[in-house]
Amino acid sequence: MLDSTLSDIEARALSAIEAASDAAALERARVEFLGRKGALAQIGKDLGKLSPEERARAGKLLNSVKQLLEERFDKKQTWFEEQALRARLDAEWLDITLPAPGVRPGALHPLTQIQKELEDLFTSLGFAVVDGPEVETEWHNFDALNIPPAHPARDAQDTFWLENGCLLRTHTSPVQVRAMERFGAPLRIIAPGRVFRNEEVDASHEHTFYQLEGMMIDRDVSIGHMLYFMKTLLEAIFRREVTVRLRPGFFPFVEPGFELDIQCLLCGGSGCPVCKQSGWVELLPCGLVHPNVLRAGGIDPREWNGFAFGLGLTRLVMMRYAIDDIRLLQSGDLRFLEQF
Ligand code: PHE
Repeated sequence: MLDSTLSDIEARALSAIEAASDAAALERARVEFLGRKGALAQIGKDLGKLSPEERARAGKLLNSVKQLLEERFDKKQTWFEEQALRARLDAEWLDITLPAPGVRPGALHPLTQIQKELEDLFTSLGFAVVDGPEVETEWHNFDALNIPPAHPARDAQDTFWLENGCLLRTHTSPVQVRAMERFGAPLRIIAPGRVFRNEEVDASHEHTFYQLEGMMIDRDVSIGHMLYFMKTLLEAIFRREVTVRLRPGFFPFVEPGFELDIQCLLCGGSGCPVCKQSGWVELLPCGLVHPNVLRAGGIDPREWNGFAFGLGLTRLVMMRYAIDDIRLLQSGDLRFLEQF
């Protein structure tokens, strides 16, 4: 009676193991047959009712069935585990022998590129490349450049003031003064760098932009000298001959002062949207250094004179690459930067 029940349980358990299609079904079957309240446990309880000899025989039989079933369950479970591992290895397969993609090469920002080109050009013309602090004294940024405290030119260059009375420089012109103080005359320098203004930011205005200052001091420097250097500069940048004109322009630190325009490179002077139909594009403020500025730099204006210019580097980059929004230059957006 017990023997046939056991062999019946064994047969049912074996076919349940066979039929289990996943680990969860197998576990359910294991609980059904081998669990604490499973079929075999039930029989174990019934053993107590048997005579001692019977009990020993039946106990052995029960154990052998239990052992067999445990083995089969374990075997099938191992098979499911191997199966899952194989599937995972297939899905996550990775060929570690493939060549690596390599480091992505960086590149210079278009502003830096133009700056380096101009530095090469001007050093070949005997100019030194110098720089000055971005946090300037009021004296270097304004007073020494012939812009006294109440002068309206200060309003045109509103900036960020520090509590100690210093300011973020509004132009690279204070480096003119620092270079004169440091090197005296004769002098040929350029000073590229970052400048700041209190601007409402839009497509053509930034609070932070770049200029390149130039200054040459010697004996009998003329506007002809200035024009020669300005044309050389522009032709190097635009890589073609350019036609320029001078208009009077007011800057307290030069006298006479000029706005240097170039004939529009897009339409050749006949008028287009870029030059607002005028045929000319304003590009380079410049002039002969005011005697007061020479004096502020410790140079005697009776013996020396010179020219100075302040090229808008940011503006130049925008013109060279036809960039229509100044904010792109400091966006850090790689989709923009990777074009250069
Ligand atoms: N510093 C002037 C500006 O930022 C430009 C300038 C420089 C003009 C040198 C004349 C000479 O507007």
